[in-house]
Amino acid sequence: MRNSRIAGVGHYVPEKVVKNADLEGLMDTSDAWIVERTGIQERRYFEPGKDTTANMGTRAAQMAMDRAGLEAKDIDLIIFATLSPDYFFPGPGVLMQRELGLTTTPALDIRNQCSGFIYALSVGDQFIKTGMYNNVLVVGSEIQSSGLDFTTRGRSVSVIFGDGAGAAVLVPEENLERGILSTHLHAQGEFAEELAATDPSSNKPQRLTHEMIDEGTIYPYMNGSTVFKHAVTRFPEVINEALTQNGLAASDIDLLVPHQANLRITQFIQQKMGLAEEKVMSNIQKYGNTTAASIPIAFSEAFEEGKIKEGDLICLAAFGSGFTWASALIRW
Ligand code: UT7
Repeated sequence: MRNSRIAGVGHYVPEKVVKNADLEGLMDTSDAWIVERTGIQERRYFEPGKDTTANMGTRAAQMAMDRAGLEAKDIDLIIFATLSPDYFFPGPGVLMQRELGLTTTPALDIRNQCSGFIYALSVGDQFIKTGMYNNVLVVGSEIQSSGLDFTTRGRSVSVIFGDGAGAAVLVPEENLERGILSTHLHAQGEFAEELAATDPSSNKPQRLTHEMIDEGTIYPYMNGSTVFKHAVTRFPEVINEALTQNGLAASDIDLLVPHQANLRITQFIQQKMGLAEEKVMSNIQKYGNTTAASIPIAFSEAFEEGKIKEGDLICLAAFGSGFTWASALIRW
């Protein structure tokens, strides 16, 4: 058995910056409400005709591969996590494979929303551990802004989400004390509709109708307070699960990179885990919640900011729609 190790991380965010004040003109909201309840100051929105879920993933992947010193031809498997695919089918994995100039490399799509990146990472980790593949590209990319309700009806959801992409390259690691030490995945379908976009739906006589558009059922729905309550329980729980499995304590963590759901949730986790503020990565202020992309974007920025040193213990953790939640413990 061998471990897998992250050899490079990368990210891409669209150029268009949308400040809270820009949303004030579209719906009944305010900069003060958004900052106080979520910590978000601005987010990025894609440019139609330029950015796609797949090509943003490709740009992030290119940065990750450059940092890993690898080229696209070295990649054995692509794993692409998103809730906002370019097409109903096929998934964006194959589109990215084509953009990378690869011909028959396998591409797997992951549908686990905010936990998607850690789920994807765990799959890549298993393939490397078993020896089936050597170099695995793991990507999270989202275009949320084309699917949000920008009227007052949708304000509690629309102000939160943003667009962007992040990626990591996984390679084999023979030293079992380095790389991905463990991953931990959970799901609770009981709460599937508490944070969901249930239309268009294959179960309806017609997948997409004018009524769905008029009634707004095509937009994401979130029971904010229920999601919040579960998130603040599950985040510490799944972080502790990872620490316990490895015989480590919260004080051993050098950097926690949580899914960027809400600054208040992140601050709660930080306090609950007894971590210093500088040990917890937060960039939701700039990007909002980018779902499957949020962890790899934050990871890549932490790397750029010099917050990650050799030998550091890094913990990734996520909670979101499904409900799904997950963690990964990494020795850099
Ligand atoms: O990434 C996936 C996981 N997602 C999360 O973890 C999100 C978890 N939930 C949350 O972060 C919070 O629940 C929200 C940020 C979504 C909402 O914050 P909240 O403190 O739970 O607010 P609320 O939903 O209880 O709403 C409070 C008030 C309501 O008005 P009334 O009923 O008190 O008069 C809302 O209608 O704020 C109102 N409101 C807004 N006001 C201005 C809701 N959205 C907005 C808005 N601007 N955008």
